[in-house]
Parts: sequence; structure tokens; C-alpha cells
Amino acid sequence: MTSGPAPKLTLNNGVQIPQLGCGMFKVADAETAVSVALATGYRLIDAAASYGNEAGVGSALAASSLDRSEFFVTSKVPNSAQGRRSALRAFDETVSRLGLDFVDLYLIHWPVPAKDLYVETWEALEEIYASGRARAIGVSNFRAQDLARLAQRTGVVPAVNQIELHPGFVQDELRALHRSMGITTQAWSPLGRGSALLGQSAVTSIARAIGRTPAQVVIRWHVEENHALIPKSTNASRLAENLDVFDFELSAEDHASLSRLAGPGRVGPDPDTFDLH
Ligand code: A2P
Repeated sequence: MTSGPAPKLTLNNGVQIPQLGCGMFKVADAETAVSVALATGYRLIDAAASYGNEAGVGSALAASSLDRSEFFVTSKVPNSAQGRRSALRAFDETVSRLGLDFVDLYLIHWPVPAKDLYVETWEALEEIYASGRARAIGVSNFRAQDLARLAQRTGVVPAVNQIELHPGFVQDELRALHRSMGITTQAWSPLGRGSALLGQSAVTSIARAIGRTPAQVVIRWHVEENHALIPKSTNASRLAENLDVFDFELSAEDHASLSRLAGPGRVGPDPDTFDLH
């Protein structure tokens, strides 16, 4: 089953990004996952060196009949490669594994405050951007203080901050800062990693009432909040289900009730401390 392509959002440098993409975190067989995602209608693949599966992503892209301009590939500097020279080397390795001349978006994966290298790493991304080998550059898991520090010390405003974000963890202050700085918010774990969010009665009752699945209700909430998002699934029918969210709307009341959910809170690592990979 294929769905229509997701609409696009425009980044602060004019580059267009598909609003909905497919994440490769913890995907064991990325080649199959990307092939299925492209066949289903996904046009954004969210990769990272630390996921250990960029070569599989590259194989699937090489086998695809899509023109390069039709798909959007993100990758990320691993924490172990922060620092100017290491980040430049990590980028070369990433594009080589992906089999691409350029990526569409290159991110610093985590701030890793204890290393205090992200300003220098960002300068490497600015060099990559200036060389045309990344159409846009951004960050991931950056906190308000990290964004402020980059703004003081460097030239290019990140196009994207990819953060954990879902009903029950809506990060209102950070999103307001993104809006004021012209940074697009991209949500990871937009489904709250599954049952802790999707099983809540506030979600399931909306889903039942409008004849949609809990995942579609939550994804639709993100779409209406104007985020980009990368719901992860390795299951072909759930991939299709997750993309099939552009022909209905939530009522204002249902939307607001999702914005107010008390839980599940943060389900992934905390950017204050996360330093693995
Ligand atoms: P699966 O890969 O078996 O589909 P998140 O993107 O928030 O991290 O959530 C990912 C989790 O949500 C995965 O465990 C994934 O399982 C599950 N998931 C993805 N799509 C759906 C869906 N449509 N319905 C139920 N669970 C889903």
C-alpha cells in the first residue's frame, strides 16, 4: 500500500523538508526498512552514524529508481566524533557509507555538555555546508542554553533541532525558542515509543471516536503543530498507517487535550548527561 507523499516544510535557508520521515534508530535491517519505506511513499530517511546501519541505507537508496532530488537524507555527527577534524572525518565516512555526494541535512547528534566541543563541531558543519555537501545543517537534542551559545559564537543558525517531543512531553519553552530563532522543530520518538502514550485512554478514546488509530491521532497532532517528525516503525503496515494522516483533522478540543496530557514525560536519554556513541 502506498500513501501520498508527506507535505513539505521550508527550512530557514529555503530548503524544503518532508514533514514526515522514517527513522533508522535501532533498525537491524536498514536496507529492507528503507526499501519498504520508499515503496510506501516516505521520502525522508533519518540516519545517523551511531545507528551503525548507514551502509544498509545506502544500498537501498542505490537500488531505488528515485531521482536524487526526490528523497531527503539526514545524518548526524556521532558523539565520539565531536571536534572540528573528527567531525569532518565523520562526515566523509557517512557520505561514503551512504553512497551519496551530499546529504540533505547534517546534525550534531547530542550536545554532550561534558565534552564542551559542540561549538567547534558546529564550525565544521558550517564548513561542510559552505562546500555544498550538506544542503542544510542543524542540531539534535540541543537545550535552550546550547542554542543560545551557538547563536553567540557562530554564523549559521541551525535549520533544525531534532528533539524528543510527543504529547505528554511537549517542550513548549524550547519550541517557542525555536520559533523565535527560525529553527524548525523535528520530533523524535513522536509516538512516545509506543504503548505508554498510544495506550492512554485520552488517546484511544479520540481514535475510537474518529475511526483512526492511536498512532494516527498522535501523528496528526504533530502535523497540526507544524513539526517535522520521524515516527519509527519496522512494520510495513504500520509504516503505511503512520503516513496516512493527511485526510483528516483533529477537533480543536481533541487537539488541545493531547497538548495537555500529563504523561508519559521523557522516554529517551536526557541531553544534560547523554554521552554514549
Ligand atoms: P514497530 O517498529 O513494531 O512498529 P517512536 O517513533 O515514538 O520512538 O515509537 C516507535 C515505537 O512505536 C516502536 O516500538 C514501533 O513499533 C511503535 N509503532 C510505530 N508505529 C506504530 C503504530 N502505527 N501503532 C503502534 N505502534 C507503533
